[in-house]
Amino acid sequence: MVAIPTETVYGLAANGFNALAVAKIFEAKNRPSFNPLILHIGNKATLDNLVAEVPEKAQQLIDAFWPGPLTLVLPKANQVPDIVTAGKATVAVRMPNHELTLSLLNSLDFPLAAPSANPSGYISPTKPEHVAEQLGDKVPYILDGGPCSVGLESTIVKIDGDRAILLRPGGLERERIEALIGPVELPQGNSIEAPGMMSSHYAPKKPVYFGTLATLLQEHAGETVGVLSFNKAVEGIPGEHQRILSPTGNLQEAATNVFQYLRELDSLPVDVVLAEQLPEKGLGIAINDRLTRAAVKP
Ligand code: TXA
Ligand code: MG
Repeated sequence: MVAIPTETVYGLAANGFNALAVAKIFEAKNRPSFNPLILHIGNKATLDNLVAEVPEKAQQLIDAFWPGPLTLVLPKANQVPDIVTAGKATVAVRMPNHELTLSLLNSLDFPLAAPSANPSGYISPTKPEHVAEQLGDKVPYILDGGPCSVGLESTIVKIDGDRAILLRPGGLERERIEALIGPVELPQGNSIEAPGMMSSHYAPKKPVYFGTLATLLQEHAGETVGVLSFNKAVEGIPGEHQRILSPTGNLQEAATNVFQYLRELDSLPVDVVLAEQLPEKGLGIAINDRLTRAAVKP
């Protein structure tokens, strides 16, 4: 088991064909066994060993976006161990866009099963230091690939025949997917299609409140607050208690900073963290999704 860099977040990786190795990941993360893992591959040809079929829409997405921050959920091949898929008939696969990890993957004759390298429920790691801080005693080796260029986990799309279902917004914008294959559906009702999408997730230790800053500041007027804002500082709050995701309002920059800044705010002497809602478009959708999950439920 080793920690690996990817363009999205750091992963905690083990041989995806070896059930015992995979079990160690669940143990190190304290991850519930019903939550399946993503298999990582180093080239597109390897996909055929892992899945039972590659529908047309999946092939189009692969051609356009791999390597990249897109995970596809497809019918699984028999040889994928049940522990990887948590007993599901489908398997999640992606080809990460990180030179070091691609060359590692291409030197192996098995895929790497890897969830994000954080204790289950906490913020995902976007730097090797984050892994060392939280799992350092459990992970014998961290492959240092520097800070993650995307900073948010991959977008997960399930392809079921001709249907495409968005299970998790992430580092690849929904708009780009829809421009290629047409509209994607959202999961229906309260069935948890991606078991990792439980509502309490990505949560720092400090209570986080998410919404419009003006409202949040009023509601927490008597408290010492930390502020995570999109592009502007808030007047009347000490600068060292504030983090601005992107002063120029660039969503890509905001994505690379959001997990790092949540960690920093979590370690400040503040009572609560107030997180501003970003524009609900492009990467803003995935950032808002993570902040909502990090936040105290209304
Ligand atoms: O960017 C990423 O995707 C990172 C890097 C390391 O690749 N990985 C990551 O893994 O975010 P993890 O385990 O933190 O999230 C994987 C998500 C979980 O929500 C899990 O429930 C879902 O993928 N998932 C995995 N297999 C699935 C399946 N067969 N059907 C539905 N959801 C699945
Ligand atoms: Mg995770």
